[in-house]
Amino acid sequence: MSSILSILFPWVLPLLSLAAFLLPQTYAALVNVTVDDAHPDPLTGISITYAPLNAWTLDSDCSTCVATPDGSQAYMGTWHDTTYLPEVGTVLSATFQFNGSALYVYCITAQSTSAPDGNSDMLFFLDGEPAGSYEHIAPGEPTYDYNVPVYSNPSIAPGFHTFVLQNGQTGGQASLALLDYIVYS
Ligand SMILES: *[C@@H]1O[C@H](CO)[C@@H](O)[C@H](O)[C@H]1NC(C)=O
Ligand SMILES: *[C@@H]1O[C@H](CO)[C@@H](O)[C@H](O)[C@H]1NC(C)=O
Repeated sequence: MSSILSILFPWVLPLLSLAAFLLPQTYAALVNVTVDDAHPDPLTGISITYAPLNAWTLDSDCSTCVATPDGSQAYMGTWHDTTYLPEVGTVLSATFQFNGSALYVYCITAQSTSAPDGNSDMLFFLDGEPAGSYEHIAPGEPTYDYNVPVYSNPSIAPGFHTFVLQNGQTGGQASLALLDYIVYS
């Protein structure tokens, strides 16, 4: 049958093998993987890393933290908290490595202007190159927003990538970051 096909329609077999080659990758790209701030990637075992380590706090059990969002609304009940202070001047970073072609980063944001100061000023880097920014001006209400997409990029070249969230900029404003989870596909 296939030999008759290939005589009558010589383009059929190359097309079928091309489809067989492309389909598994297409399916792989359709799966979203969610990585919690405090748990490893369920597919690869890679965890988000934080620097400087002692400047980030795992907040699910932090009694001294100023930001107190509702843990039941955080993915897996956890988030990582850090604040950039201009007078300290050390920017804070969260780094994540993934194999994929789309990336979405979710934070909790605070709407208060003091205790905590909910303003945020983040920069993003993909494979060492600037890849965007996120700014949040808190309106001055005692509430938190959850599942806030601070970075969304659905069109990354397929492959292994390094993403960096930088909280605060040298010479910039104070900035709160409450990192909850990352989704990639
Ligand atoms: C993956 O998640 C993002 C962000 O929620 C969404 O926009 C996208 O459609 C999802 N992709 C798939 C394949 O489910
Ligand atoms: C990334 O994923 C693709 C598709 O699943 C696979 O072919 C490739 O080998 C992976 N690359 C790395 C560096 O893991």
